[in-house]
Amino acid sequence: MRIDVLTLFPEIIEPFIGSSIVGRACDAGIVTIRLTNIRDFATDKHRTVDDRPFGGGPGMVMMCGPVFDAVEHVTAKHKATPVRILLTPQGEPLTHDRVRQLARLERLLLICGHYEGFDERIRTNLADREISIGDYVLSGGEPAAIVLIDTIVRMLPGALGHEEAAANDSFANGLLECPQYTRPRDFRGDVVPEVLLSGHHEAIAEWRARQSMKRTRARRPDLLDTQKSREDESREENTKRE
Ligand code: ADE
Repeated sequence: MRIDVLTLFPEIIEPFIGSSIVGRACDAGIVTIRLTNIRDFATDKHRTVDDRPFGGGPGMVMMCGPVFDAVEHVTAKHKATPVRILLTPQGEPLTHDRVRQLARLERLLLICGHYEGFDERIRTNLADREISIGDYVLSGGEPAAIVLIDTIVRMLPGALGHEEAAANDSFANGLLECPQYTRPRDFRGDVVPEVLLSGHHEAIAEWRARQSMKRTRARRPDLLDTQKSREDESREENTKRE
């Protein structure tokens, strides 16, 4: 997979893509990530990328010119046509299912906004999708791009080293992950559940499934509703087909 990121602050993203799982995935050739500074596409001597909003009002708006030029330049650098994603609080909420979908694509182009927002023509002409990482406003799209890259890369085959790990993540099966423990068995009197030490694989799997369900019911009952409607939908689909 190739991911291009257009940003006014590549220095925010740079250390992230060189570290940890994403850094290793880059080194292993599982993903190629390239950062491009939108300011390099400004055309005046002050390298201006934003301007006052027509109609008045506070703040500055990112201008079309540098963003369009940057997108066109970066798109032409590689043969695969990218899916262009604008990071904005107005976008579709990022979920595990959406990440899984995006992780199957050959090429992504992420556009990070700053200031008070984008000229609307960036949204309407350049974005195939708009994604939000939550109902709050960040100072810029960079932290959102980092979140998106992290969630996508950990789903790419080989990125985690051991293939089962991503499948066990919270949300992978629509439920929260079960509790995990490591040594020591007894930490300040807080003892690891006996079943995990039993070596009885079936009992361990059953315990984990039960814990996962219990935790989801307590903390995120909305996920169970979502899962139930998904099951109902697929049952309906199957009935229609029969
Ligand atoms: N840019 C600013 N806030 C954002 C959010 N919540 N998600 C994605 N991009 C953003």
